Amino acid sequence: MKLSEIVPVKFSGDRLLILDQTKLPGEKKYLEMQSKEDVFIAIKKMKVRGAPAIGVAAGYGLYVSVRDYEGRDLNEFRQYVQSTADYLVKARPTAVNLSWALNRMMDKLNAYDGSVSGAKRMLFEEADAIRIEDENACRKMGEYGLSLLEPGDGILTHCNAGTLATAMYGTSLSPLYLGEEKGYHFKVFADETRPALQGARLTAWELSKAGIDVTLICDNMASIVMKNGWIDAVVVGCDRMAANGDGANKIGTSGVAILAKEYGIPFYMFVPTSTIDFDTPTGDDIQIELRDGKEISTMWYKEPMAPEGISVYNPSFDVTPAKYITAVVTERGIVYPPYEENLRKIME
Ligand code: MRU
Repeated sequence: MKLSEIVPVKFSGDRLLILDQTKLPGEKKYLEMQSKEDVFIAIKKMKVRGAPAIGVAAGYGLYVSVRDYEGRDLNEFRQYVQSTADYLVKARPTAVNLSWALNRMMDKLNAYDGSVSGAKRMLFEEADAIRIEDENACRKMGEYGLSLLEPGDGILTHCNAGTLATAMYGTSLSPLYLGEEKGYHFKVFADETRPALQGARLTAWELSKAGIDVTLICDNMASIVMKNGWIDAVVVGCDRMAANGDGANKIGTSGVAILAKEYGIPFYMFVPTSTIDFDTPTGDDIQIELRDGKEISTMWYKEPMAPEGISVYNPSFDVTPAKYITAVVTERGIVYPPYEENLRKIME
């Protein structure tokens, strides 16, 4: 299967379609988004997930939610769009791409001076630009990331930061696709990524569809594959990087980073600049999403896997402190510590 056949968010004719990732790998089903509620639920229930893909869905989703507005007053339209954006932004709190995309759409609208119909067209074009820029950024991150890897390397990844999580290519999986094209033949290990199983259901699926050698492991097996000498590098994505280089990513990422340090394995975080939040000083300031405990106890199983009524703690992300991150790969280049200083430099 070609990568271009796996499209998490697409605009087809005048329809916004979202690939329902909760149904993968068993079923490839698209859902049409017709209202702000549809978009909100698709993001909240992780039908579309992964920070950059959430940003793309939010851009088009905002457009679809307001395109049937009937008034002709631009200021009233702006207020209407703002209230829709304020609603959508509450779908999930951690991935900054959600608020980043909505703010970008609003900035464009607030700077626009013309008719309401022109404003609607402009919103669509901005959503399209977000998608195209993300695809280009992912391609660039793939090139930079590949320069850090050697043919035949063993690679560990956590969660899904692949084409399903972006407009295309993925962030941390992008160098693996590029490497495959160049005959690098990586040997990839995918953490299953409990509790929502993005590694098992999504990463293992998209890598194997692309013909990449991928082995699925449980999250608690990361240490043994490192000890066995099978891992030369860890590559992961990011949902929000604070100004000091602390990076929030899928729950369990920080444990993998700590293990990598112990085993002397480089740990690379792939972070498009849309995911860097300079308004958040450190990882402690990042809001961590808490999700329904049923994701742990029942959701992915035929029968409940825990005693009825048991209390469950289900944080969806954790923060990897900057000191465990060997390098941050962005579309503008590779950033090394000190991150506080060098992340800002790359934005200049
Ligand atoms: O809860 P999810 O599946 O949205 O979490 C996704 C991740 O943690 C990804 O690693 C991150 O968004 C980077 S995606 C390129």
